[in-house]
Amino acid sequence: MTNPNLTTVFKETFDTTETPHLFFAPGRINLIGEHTDYNGGHVFPASISFGTYAVATKRTDQKLRFYSMNFSESGVITCDLADLAYNEADKWANYPKGMIQYIRGAGHKIDAGADILFYGDIPNGAGLSSSASIEMVTGVLLENLFDLDINRIDMVQLGQQVENKYIGVNSGIMDQFAIGMGKQDHAILLNCQTLDYHYAPVKLDNHVIMIINTNKQRTLAGSKYNERRQQCEQALADLQTALSIQSLGDLSKEQFDQHKQLIKGVSNQKRAKHAIYENARTLEALEKLQQGDLKAFGNLMNESHQSLQHDYEVTGMELDTLVAAAWDQPGVIGARMTGAGFGGCAIAIVEKELVEDFKQNVYRIYTEKVGYEATFYTAMIGDGAKETTEGVL
Ligand code: GLA
Repeated sequence: MTNPNLTTVFKETFDTTETPHLFFAPGRINLIGEHTDYNGGHVFPASISFGTYAVATKRTDQKLRFYSMNFSESGVITCDLADLAYNEADKWANYPKGMIQYIRGAGHKIDAGADILFYGDIPNGAGLSSSASIEMVTGVLLENLFDLDINRIDMVQLGQQVENKYIGVNSGIMDQFAIGMGKQDHAILLNCQTLDYHYAPVKLDNHVIMIINTNKQRTLAGSKYNERRQQCEQALADLQTALSIQSLGDLSKEQFDQHKQLIKGVSNQKRAKHAIYENARTLEALEKLQQGDLKAFGNLMNESHQSLQHDYEVTGMELDTLVAAAWDQPGVIGARMTGAGFGGCAIAIVEKELVEDFKQNVYRIYTEKVGYEATFYTAMIGDGAKETTEGVL
């Protein structure tokens, strides 16, 4: 989709001649390390070139006006700085409202209102973190408009709090971190327990990362996301009856195998197994990427999907069909679901020259089995949330 001229739409929508500032926050993919963040493990995400733009000006009164070109049917949503409480009627605007409330709550001075227009090119509900993207773009715009000094990792954590306490999805830190801290052509290896991180160049030789959308929409609030989290917490509590650990991420595969009988119930054992094995795979994947061993990296991606399918049970027919079709194609080094699962997107590392065949074949297999189409994008790894002049003006 070509980007519209956001400044023009901004001026028309808010009936102003003032020139707004432009901000951008990406979406993210996760290369490997799924459902490990809230289990104190490692993740390996990267920010992508799709994302959320925001254009904004400060006001002189206390009013906040929000407009999203993606939800134009909702019109301009208005509220007052003094009343930032969650309000169902405000729909998508609860994300920026939540960010404003939490940034203020952290002691930053926001003493006037703002007009903000949003435009995103991340497919909604596709597991590429459109919600964390709108949170983080709001964070950088507030930082800039109100001349605030917000440590970036604090902003990331405030974004997660908005998601957890204000929106009510019990998600981990991965999405906001990937989006707040992203760096062009790099993935981030993040220890979600300590927040230690480092950037790893994503060098794929003659390969590209394809993002493939199942087009099966889901919201995390309506999925089994929170249930999986509770099952892992229960498994941890069972293990803690005999082991002194803080999170599942503290256990090695060997320790898990030795002590898994402590966990009551087969399904909770499987959930914990995934979290612990996936954490080990993530650390191994970083090593393989650094050694330039793409084949081994791809195999770990494949194992990750199988574990998410059979042990964590968050894939579903659509993602499994897509990933299995991808595995069967020549030139594919690895493929797996990315994000929370239950629909959303898969990623595949595909040899550049074979991308067209890959798309055609996977498209055909998927449509025949599922009954509707999958959509293909090439992932470009871009920078994290920032003020920008690029792209849309
Ligand atoms: C969602 C959550 C993340 C993470 C992933 C699964 O994207 O927002 O915190 O738990 O699912 O890895």
